[in-house]
Amino acid sequence: MKNKMDKDKNIFNDSKSKFPPFGGIKGGSVPYKTLYNGAKIPVIGLGTFGSDNYDAETIAGAVKTAVKMGYRHIDCASVYGNEKEIGVALKEVIAEGVVTREELWITSKVWNDKHNAVVESCKQTLADLQLDYLDLYLVHWPFPNYHPPKCDVNTRQDNAVPYIHENYMKTWSQMESLVDAGLVKSIGTSNMTIPKMKLLLRDCKIKPVVNEMEIHPHFQQPELYKFMKDNGVEVIGYSPIGSPGRPERDRTPEDTVDMEDPVIVAAAARLGVHPAVVCLKWAVQRGQITIPFSVKTDKMFNNLKGITEGPLTDEEMSAISKIDKGCRLIKGQVFLWKTAKSWEDLWDLSGEITAG
Ligand SMILES: NC(=O)c1ccc[n+]([C@@H]2O[C@H](COP(=O)([O-])OP(=O)(O)OC[C@H]3O[C@@H](n4cnc5c(N)ncnc54)[C@H](OP(=O)(O)O)[C@@H]3O)[C@@H](O)[C@H]2O)c1
Repeated sequence: MKNKMDKDKNIFNDSKSKFPPFGGIKGGSVPYKTLYNGAKIPVIGLGTFGSDNYDAETIAGAVKTAVKMGYRHIDCASVYGNEKEIGVALKEVIAEGVVTREELWITSKVWNDKHNAVVESCKQTLADLQLDYLDLYLVHWPFPNYHPPKCDVNTRQDNAVPYIHENYMKTWSQMESLVDAGLVKSIGTSNMTIPKMKLLLRDCKIKPVVNEMEIHPHFQQPELYKFMKDNGVEVIGYSPIGSPGRPERDRTPEDTVDMEDPVIVAAAARLGVHPAVVCLKWAVQRGQITIPFSVKTDKMFNNLKGITEGPLTDEEMSAISKIDKGCRLIKGQVFLWKTAKSWEDLWDLSGEITAG
């Protein structure tokens, strides 16, 4: 595999991760990445956004199962509405001796309506997750634009605004204060674009360790990906399988299906794995951190095992690099301000930050 995974120094303790009937994942075979600040992040984490399909208890149950199976990285967010239940699950696996807090990597995110109350929001997340610190805290979106859960995709909030760098920096300095206070180990961004990131890199005291962004074979974002990597910011790719369970409001007739792509299907057939697993292998071999969601034990297991076994060939990697269709699935329409023309305005396609 031509990537920079640190396989030699693993942080996983597999002695307690035996998971019947699958047998668990051997700790030494699950890779991680070292971030610029020295923190070590497992390259696969469990997503916890259940869309409209799964309740909080079900997702918390999946977290518990996942940790017993060998997952050490959980991608949370306050807006997912399940941090209290996940907190109970984490407390239980730690109390049962499955894992120690230090062996886990827990990410959470500040939601758009808390950009002016980051410390308060982080403390609420810590209380809900029953933790003393987070490994990673992200600004979920670079806009303070709130929308009611499950609202119609065309909803425009009266007070929604375009990106305002001065305001984002006020939010970012609150993020920095969390590191200084020891409440979070690392901070990062999500859903950023190149022009926004350039300004943040210019003005921050603490550089983000990662940017969490949509990436799957049909939406590879090569330019943004390279920009992050060139600037020492690692990439966490969300919706890595193409988010087949995403809400109806996030679907358009133009959306394509990664798992049905002949290139993905052919690699899956060669390896005898589900096409979903090929998407994850590609992600990790390309060099990004991947956070697939599932609450199904067999799928969670296949995903974890898949990134530790049977790499894609150079030919398969090259073929997948050519199936990018620029197909963004999570378009973010609900964050648009009144005068915005279309969801493309959120993503600065011209190379300049889209103003109001
Ligand atoms: N930062 C952000 O703004 C942001 C945005 C979106 C998502 N995220 C994070 O990224 C995570 C993942 O993204 P996502 O949930 O949108 O999409 P995803 O991981 O691409 O897709 C999840 C779907 O794939 C299915 N699946 C998983 N493994 C499979 C396998 N081995 N075989 C067949 N099907 C499989 C699951 O099925 P089942 O339903 O049957 O389990 C689930 O419906 C989220 O949960 C969240 O933590 C972050």
